[in-house]
Amino acid sequence: MAKRFFILLVLAVAVSLWPPSGPQATDLLLAKITVPKPAKGKGERCVDDTDFMRRNHMSLLDHQRDKTVHRGDRTKRYSLKGCIDCHAVNGKDGVPVIADNPKHFCRTCHDYAAVRIDCFQCHASRPAPGGTAKASAGKSNTAALQSYLRGLEQ
Ligand code: HEC
Ligand code: HEC
Ligand code: HEC
Repeated sequence: MAKRFFILLVLAVAVSLWPPSGPQATDLLLAKITVPKPAKGKGERCVDDTDFMRRNHMSLLDHQRDKTVHRGDRTKRYSLKGCIDCHAVNGKDGVPVIADNPKHFCRTCHDYAAVRIDCFQCHASRPAPGGTAKASAGKSNTAALQSYLRGLEQ
């Protein structure tokens, strides 16, 4: 009886250790999981290593926003406009889709990872026709706010 219990115990431990851990096993497992495949961006490479971008774009964007909004530093490297310009995805009509379309670059992963971002309430989610995604968000918001305040004063 004790012997049978021992055999069961060994089996249980063996099963719990399978598959063997280590990079190879993980790679095999990852290869089987379907992951989102975002459309390729314009040009040869992203503003940083692709893998680095996958993991760190959120903090880069946060940081870029703070630099611009608080310090007026408008360096272009991690600009949200830049992301939108290079990562535009065309719809069936040949026009870049906006963020309410699941094909939108930023949504390919976010939908999968159940991430929701509110950035496109203010920022353009596609390049302006014939141009780039401008910071219209900023100017029109400020203009709207100013005219509203003027209205209150009168
Ligand atoms: C309520 C409106 C609003 C929302 C929501 C918003 N922003 Fe902004 N954002 C602005 C305004 C206004 C500016 C200043 C624009 C300028 O001066 O160029 C700005 C500037 C930026 C900048 C620097 C300019 C650029 O294009 O690089 C970045 C980066 C940025 N925001 C990222 C984000 C991200 C990421 C989100 C979502 C997590 C977000 N913003 C959500 C209004 C907003
Ligand atoms: C000059 C064009 C360009 C700009 C600007 C740009 N990207 Fe990219 N991005 C690319 C290219 C090209 C790739 C694919 C590179 C590859 O396949 O190795 C890419 C890849 C990525 C990926 C990985 C996608 C995947 O397949 O997993 C992410 C995430 C990403 N970019 C986010 C951003 C964000 C966020 C910004 C703005 C801060 C940005 N990119 C700005 C061109 C750009
Ligand atoms: C390669 C997949 C991928 C692509 C493409 C991608 N994201 Fe993300 N993003 C993620 C994941 C995954 C998270 C959640 C990370 C976490 O929770 O730690 C995330 C989180 C974010 C966050 C933080 C959200 C929060 O609530 O904290 C912002 C902002 C963001 N992404 C912006 C963008 C923008 C803008 C684009 C398009 C230019 C984009 N992402 C494209 C995978 C991606």
